[in-house]
Amino acid sequence: MKLSIRFVLPLVFVLAILSYVTLPIVDTFTMRWFIRDLDIRSRLVTNTMEEPLSELINANSKAKILIFFKSVVQDERLFAIGFCDLNGVLQYQTDTFLKDFNCNSDLLTNATNSTVLPLEKGSIHIAAHPIDYKGKAIGRLILVHDMSFITRRGADTRKYVLYLFVALAIVISLVTVLLAHLSWRGWVSGMRTLLRGEGVLDPRSQFSRPELLPLAKDLRDLVRDLELNRTSKDESHALWTAASLKKILKEELIGEEVLIVSNREPYIHLQKNNKIEVQVPASGLVTALEPIMRACSGTWIAHGSGTADRSVVDKHDRVLVPPEEPAYAIRRVWLSKEEEAGYYYGFSNEGLWPLCHIAHTRPIFRVEDWDYYVKVNEKFAAVVLEEAKTEDPVILIQDYHLALLPRMVREKLPKATIISFWHIPWPNPEAFGICPWREEILHGLLGSSIMGFHTRFHCNNFLDTVDRFLEARIDNETSTVSYGGKLTAVKEYPISIEWPSRWSKDQKSILETRTEIRRVNNLPENILLGIGIDRMDYTKGILERFLAVEKLLEKFPEWIGRFTFIQIAAPSRSSIEQYQNFESEVRALAQKINTRYGKDGYQPIYLKVEHHTPQQVFEYYRAADICMVTSLHDGMNLVAKEFISARDDNKGVLILSQFTGASRELPEALIVNPYNIAQCANALQIALTMPDSEQKARMRSMRSLVQEFNVYRWAARMLKDAARMKERARLRGRIRESQSSHQGNFSI
Ligand code: G6P
Repeated sequence: MKLSIRFVLPLVFVLAILSYVTLPIVDTFTMRWFIRDLDIRSRLVTNTMEEPLSELINANSKAKILIFFKSVVQDERLFAIGFCDLNGVLQYQTDTFLKDFNCNSDLLTNATNSTVLPLEKGSIHIAAHPIDYKGKAIGRLILVHDMSFITRRGADTRKYVLYLFVALAIVISLVTVLLAHLSWRGWVSGMRTLLRGEGVLDPRSQFSRPELLPLAKDLRDLVRDLELNRTSKDESHALWTAASLKKILKEELIGEEVLIVSNREPYIHLQKNNKIEVQVPASGLVTALEPIMRACSGTWIAHGSGTADRSVVDKHDRVLVPPEEPAYAIRRVWLSKEEEAGYYYGFSNEGLWPLCHIAHTRPIFRVEDWDYYVKVNEKFAAVVLEEAKTEDPVILIQDYHLALLPRMVREKLPKATIISFWHIPWPNPEAFGICPWREEILHGLLGSSIMGFHTRFHCNNFLDTVDRFLEARIDNETSTVSYGGKLTAVKEYPISIEWPSRWSKDQKSILETRTEIRRVNNLPENILLGIGIDRMDYTKGILERFLAVEKLLEKFPEWIGRFTFIQIAAPSRSSIEQYQNFESEVRALAQKINTRYGKDGYQPIYLKVEHHTPQQVFEYYRAADICMVTSLHDGMNLVAKEFISARDDNKGVLILSQFTGASRELPEALIVNPYNIAQCANALQIALTMPDSEQKARMRSMRSLVQEFNVYRWAARMLKDAARMKERARLRGRIRESQSSHQGNFSI
């Protein structure tokens, strides 16, 4: 004991002095860095706002300018914006702007300047930047940032530095005491005993060493604290929201810019009767990613496929969306008719789509289509490089249209974090091996840092395919592929939807919606309603669904006249022959069943082959008694999750194909094999007669799952993994550097 005090106390004393001297220095540096950050940030915000703002000022539209300012100050740190004209008059400002602000104040004397102003409740950072319209100065934009977060961060930094010193003190003291107390043999045997967890704390044990007791206790406490810390950190995000996702981006991927790249754009501008209409396409990918983009405010690069897309973009082919509340930019990529035919209709949708879905439609591979596929992927790569403002952006590449893009981008931006997500199934190696360019596709995808799929099953298929066709090292335990000296993590991230849904705001009650939907479709008020919402696609099992309705009416004729099925089928990929044939088959079958069972104005199937807005679809979900998802093969299927999110009355029955990714997460649905028509008809019968209490129990459980595993959590998991990988790569780089400096030219 005496010895311990002799060694430990002076050491702790010296470390305490050290931390006393160091902490104020840390404080000063942190403050300087953050002020520099805010200066850069203000410049960036001004650059982004300059063009739209100067246009609005020129048009003298005060209301729009204020709305624009308001949308920009959504950012939690930027809390006020003002605009001073050349005469030094404050022309426009947000409600939060400083009272009595003087545009000619001494605080901001030069044309471009910034200052920190201490106030009662903490400091603020004020920056002024000149605004030009068509090369002529028209005034200055004043940005006011709240600096309270710096105080918080400073406190955190101080805390962690202090912890570091304390930890150092403990470790050094313990080592000192141990060295002083133990002989080498005694120490080794003591450590072994300690690590085995035997005897140390048991005074009866022959290994019991009193001098190890404090060490063992400290270690246990440390482990317990870490454990507690970890669990509480995970639980603190039990409900993921746009705000918590934003926080992850800021805290873990500090300063990283986010680019999403996909073929399909989230908003399509269409020319209709001399007017421009905005359409949200029917795409699971768009449904999932759009809320993410609204939370992250990055850039979404996609094919500009709308007839009015060109007329709404600025000179950089960019347009701000959502139109009603701009939050991020779409950067449009233009494709010629030939490129679209070869890359989109041909290789992507006649080749890869049927190849990856086991729906018994033969894939078609043409050399000309492949050539366009390569060319268009190159075109997208060039746009990504144009849009990337840093050398290490986070790039989220979506789906089978852009399989070559990860490698192309990686070659130009080796430090980028590339997360690729494959939204459709990945087949086994035999099936994928049909593709004449299988090696090229795998090579392309392995340019990614992370390769994501909806299910573990698809990850395993991908790993097996890589193993079969490439010279790569696969580690099944960590689920990574080492290829060409680079690692790609292959992980499952089951995609989801935003919660709560944007469309649930200002909704009519379920009762009103039920009545309304029945009224607009000329249906009797008490009729029971089934719905199917899909693109007109042969993978969705629409024919099987209709056959199940027919079988139901055949087996249980009491439903004739009392049950109607509405199928909404958004037109999709209609230039492709297989899609045209499929649509004809669907129409013919609906007609056949309607002829067989329709009578006195009753029609069992309503087929609506037309685009519906997300809002309209949401109403159908709320009006229905049953939702049928009978895909023959589907990566996830978000219709199932959307139906659940729409049912805040906890009612309605979901019939769900076992061949969707969603069926793995939603066992409370009635799970069916869509090829088994009799089983699907029975499921309909069970759904139609299911007591309210059972509907509620099932729906409640599904709602809590979708709420918890919403799309913000999906994105956060990927971004956190990406941040972790980046950190590890940085560490590896540092270790390599320090090793090579010790070992001369020896390469590791
Ligand atoms: C699937 C694909 C998406 C695609 C969507 C709609 O969900 O995984 O990438 O956007 O279908 O298809 P479309 O061809 O209209 O984009």
